[in-house]
Amino acid sequence: MNLDSALQKHAEWKTKFRTAISNKEMLDDLTIAKDNCCELGKWLYGESEALYGMLESHKNCKAKHKIFHMEAGKIATAINLKKYTEAEAMLGTNTPYNKASNETGIAIVQLKKEVDTNAAQLQQPKSETFFDWSDELSVGNQFIDDDHKKLIKMINNFHNAMQEGRGKEVISKVLNNLFIYTSEHFKREEDEMLRIKYALFEDHRRKHQQLISQVENLQTDLDNGKIMLTTKVSDFLKDWLYSHILQTDKLLAAAISKAKS
Ligand SMILES: [Fe+2]
Ligand SMILES: [Fe+2]
Repeated sequence: MNLDSALQKHAEWKTKFRTAISNKEMLDDLTIAKDNCCELGKWLYGESEALYGMLESHKNCKAKHKIFHMEAGKIATAINLKKYTEAEAMLGTNTPYNKASNETGIAIVQLKKEVDTNAAQLQQPKSETFFDWSDELSVGNQFIDDDHKKLIKMINNFHNAMQEGRGKEVISKVLNNLFIYTSEHFKREEDEMLRIKYALFEDHRRKHQQLISQVENLQTDLDNGKIMLTTKVSDFLKDWLYSHILQTDKLLAAAISKAKS
């Protein structure tokens, strides 16, 4: 729908009426009075509803456009009844027709602005992050927090690679990098546990080992073509890291901080 041309066409009605008056033409006043017969009207009640129906400017344009056609219909009827002086007066300034015409023009311009903005936004890729770092995830230990932030970034990369439908090799490489970094991170935590003679060492290490073997199985299945990677895998990694940080790593961080004091 070209809203610029709709704007022009509605403004042209004044000239059309004046021509009809001077040529003593007959007009289709019933159709003119309807707000769903012109090109803009068809669009407003048709395909634009689903796309822009929620916009205030769309609702406003519909309302003003309806009044415009009602007033235009009255003028067309006056012309058909050969009440030319009356019809001419109805086209003047400070008349309901003139007001409706101006307001419809403004409403079309406003709607066009919003439609253009919407179109520009739709063209931009959505930048929603799959897994966001939040303060809730901080365990209060710098090296553990930094490692977790990096892991979150890597899980996001992995998720994006899958969502964007990257090739199997790319996905496998991203997953492998994630696996390597996770192993290094676990080793750092475990070294720290040994250093402070952590009471829950065995339990914590077992949880790390479980994840490592789960990811190893995943990689093997992927390489053998047994499974297709879906976002379920990134959901699983996200959930695992999230609950491991909150339930297990926080206890470790508290013990490290206690050992320092
Ligand atoms: Fe851990
Ligand atoms: Fe951790």
